[in-house]
Amino acid sequence: MAVHLSMPRNHGRSILTCRWEEMQLDDPHQLPGAGTGNEQTQMNSQMLRDTAKVLFADNKGLLAMDESNGTCNKRFAKLGIPQTVETRRAYRELIVTTPGLGESIGGAILYDETIRQKTKDGTPFVKVLIEAGITPGIKVDTGAKELAGHPGEKVTEGLDGLRDRFQEYFQMGARFAKWRAVIAIGSGIPSWGCIEANAHALARYAALCQEAGLVPIVEPEVLMDGDHTLDQCFEVTDEVLRTVFSQLFAQRVILEGMILKPNMVLPGLACNTQETVDEVADATVSCFLRAVPAAVPAIAFLSGGQSPELASARLNAMNLRFKSRLLWALAFSFARAIQQPALELWKGQEVNIPAAQQALFYRARCNQAARRGEYNEAMEKR
Ligand code: 13P
Repeated sequence: MAVHLSMPRNHGRSILTCRWEEMQLDDPHQLPGAGTGNEQTQMNSQMLRDTAKVLFADNKGLLAMDESNGTCNKRFAKLGIPQTVETRRAYRELIVTTPGLGESIGGAILYDETIRQKTKDGTPFVKVLIEAGITPGIKVDTGAKELAGHPGEKVTEGLDGLRDRFQEYFQMGARFAKWRAVIAIGSGIPSWGCIEANAHALARYAALCQEAGLVPIVEPEVLMDGDHTLDQCFEVTDEVLRTVFSQLFAQRVILEGMILKPNMVLPGLACNTQETVDEVADATVSCFLRAVPAAVPAIAFLSGGQSPELASARLNAMNLRFKSRLLWALAFSFARAIQQPALELWKGQEVNIPAAQQALFYRARCNQAARRGEYNEAMEKR
């Protein structure tokens, strides 16, 4: 039986290089994943590999702008910016219209509210991004909730109805997605139950995501909060990654068509010993060389509360010191470490938009340089 995979109207051209209008599907019911069999699987698999490649081409990385409304409001409140739908929209317009952003950013992760928003002149953000050469992605988890029977630990929710949501997001232009699990280090935690529950949910999400033709970003974040040592973070990160890949394997996730978004291996924020940039780079890459299969095309770190400068310096050291040994692209998918300086300059005022956009562009550029191992402190003294 012939298998029909409905692609956008521009059959023959890459789904990632077509214009926004061309990405709208003729028949919303005919999406990737709509058929079955080998041919279907192969087409999906090739599309996923192509997407993953495009996101990190030319040493680009990802911009996470998928803060939930609650998180976005908290960051606005700290700076005295009103917390309304309109201020959130205006801030995100500032980001997506930053001139030249597509030179160093290959994909932007949006939030459900954001993927539906438009610029002041009525242009959908998704269209603005695609025309700038930036692939839109979407955060699909519904947040980390208390894990029953496990005080102090959380499990990420959002699997119910996810298949249908993926179809809608694909139609809207999203070509990759994100799901974040959080693992805390503390007295007696993380527990096996917490690690396993989160890894299982990540794998179930990733399989559904690939079925729908989107590249899953698999984000198991070991948090920086606490006074744990770098060695403890290494041990927990190693355990978490092994469990995640075991579950991804069990759920038949195509490793070549996914992205890992992990924490760097760091001492807790309250730990008395804070290792050097090179020591962090060595611990982080050593951990990943042990636990991440070579088939994974890219590892894109979250910043997790590090300063923008430290996040760039550590990424740079990893690429510089391990250049010849790296099996995957070592890239970035930062939110705070790219956005924070811009947000602080903007302060909710239209007059500050150009300065904020310059700061955003600049941080993205620094991280692109870090992917090449060419970032240095002098770049911060503009
Ligand atoms: P940070 O870079 O601010 O940690 O955010 C990354 C992210 O996407 C968290 O889920």
